[in-house]
Amino acid sequence: MQIQAKFFNNIVKPASFVILLFPLLFLISGLFFDLLGANPIETIIRDLGEWALRILLLTLSLSPLSRALKWPQLIQLRRMMGLFAFFYASLHLFCYLGFEQSFDIRSVIEDIWERPFITAGFAGFLTLLPLAITSTRSKMRQMGASWKALHRLVYLAVILCVVHFWWLVKADASTPMVYTAFTVILLLERVCWSKLKNKPKQ
Ligand code: HEM
Repeated sequence: MQIQAKFFNNIVKPASFVILLFPLLFLISGLFFDLLGANPIETIIRDLGEWALRILLLTLSLSPLSRALKWPQLIQLRRMMGLFAFFYASLHLFCYLGFEQSFDIRSVIEDIWERPFITAGFAGFLTLLPLAITSTRSKMRQMGASWKALHRLVYLAVILCVVHFWWLVKADASTPMVYTAFTVILLLERVCWSKLKNKPKQ
């Protein structure tokens, strides 16, 4: 048991941390070696957004995965992965603000008002924000039961981000379709699991 815990803490956790940095390293090296295509800014913004969504969905998969694999330690990766999702979402937002809006707040507000996909993206980001802020162990202890209730907002955040993706696609909807299917499966699993958990024992 102790060997398993050591393996998890010394190998799985640090390896996951490094792997989660790869998308960023690929983007930086792609920029450096001019591999990001005709519109590197668009590639950077889109890739960061898609990685934020992928990591968010992966974070939500950890609980069902840990039950299916009977590997409870997997849950310990949730906080790090959730924060990585927020990190990529923040870089995505920062690049949009800098490259597309030149940090002009008036034009950003106009964009939120006029383009529904930007409204959904902002709503998704604002939903993730309190989760990232309260992700520390001390906050978890301080908030008690309300911490769990607050962190259920992660499902709303994923839905808003998937809507954000749907509203920006123009022709090929296959990718948002995959993320939608994944989200629906995770939500259904979550509902079934809490029903089973709360079922009175006979
Ligand atoms: C903070 C507010 C946000 C803004 C202003 C924003 C803005 C954008 C913009 C400008 C694009 C590119 C659209 C295009 O090239 O036509 C985009 C794409 C995308 N964003 Fe966001 N976004 C925000 C939040 C988020 C969040 C929180 C997520 C996920 C966690 C997310 C995930 C995505 C995805 C998956 C794409 C599509 C990537 C692709 O086409 O492959 N965005 N967003």
